[in-house]
Amino acid sequence: MTHNTSPYVVAIDGPSGSGKGSLALRVARELGFHLLDSGAIYRLLALKCLQQGIDLDDEDQVASQIEDFKIRFEVGEELSIPYLDDVDMTAELRREATGDAASQVARHPRVRERLLGLQRDFFRPPGLVADGRDMGTVVFPDAKFKFFLHASVEIRAQRRYKQLINMGLSANIPNLQADIAERDERDQNRSVSPLRPAEDALVVDSSLLDLAQVTNLVLSHIRENTG
Ligand code: DC
Repeated sequence: MTHNTSPYVVAIDGPSGSGKGSLALRVARELGFHLLDSGAIYRLLALKCLQQGIDLDDEDQVASQIEDFKIRFEVGEELSIPYLDDVDMTAELRREATGDAASQVARHPRVRERLLGLQRDFFRPPGLVADGRDMGTVVFPDAKFKFFLHASVEIRAQRRYKQLINMGLSANIPNLQADIAERDERDQNRSVSPLRPAEDALVVDSSLLDLAQVTNLVLSHIRENTG
């Protein structure tokens, strides 16, 4: 544990399927830090909009859902359980359709703006590992550590395939590749907070590394640079 320094943020950004979710959970556990899965927040908001029958293209309507947005996470050893209005949304959250819907609500500047406070509130002692797309660029620009995880579309589709099959869901690799490429395109080209590494981020290509190797690399970098 690294508790002899003042609280700090470790930002882990990157595209879907780069492995940043599992990495963030492990790093948070090793450091004894809180965890922010910001993608899950966009996913829960998308699910709420779908439940309410709201048009995901309607920025005002989507943003208005944040006024009464009751979410929480129960972080365990290996996974974090997301709740919307006290209902466990684990099964719905990781579906491809939910990811697509999340990517649509995440395009709206007012939605992103209104979610800033909620995300920043996750930063409490002893520290936070924040996983997302714009953690190091927008939400926590002063993060002490910034990592940006890359992986090829092919590798990411394979990882997503395994994840979905393990969850008992059906999946097919060519469709997953097409979905991932399409979502990357949308996330990289939106006008607000496009997906890109912060200038001071350490870029890690995880295509040829497994989770343990990436986790070791990230933790070594943190430990070498904290007193
Ligand atoms: O990481 P994820 O697949 O759970 O993210 C779901 C969607 O949410 C993704 O398409 C982009 C969006 N997102 C975002 O715009 N900003 C974040 N910080 C996290 C996710």
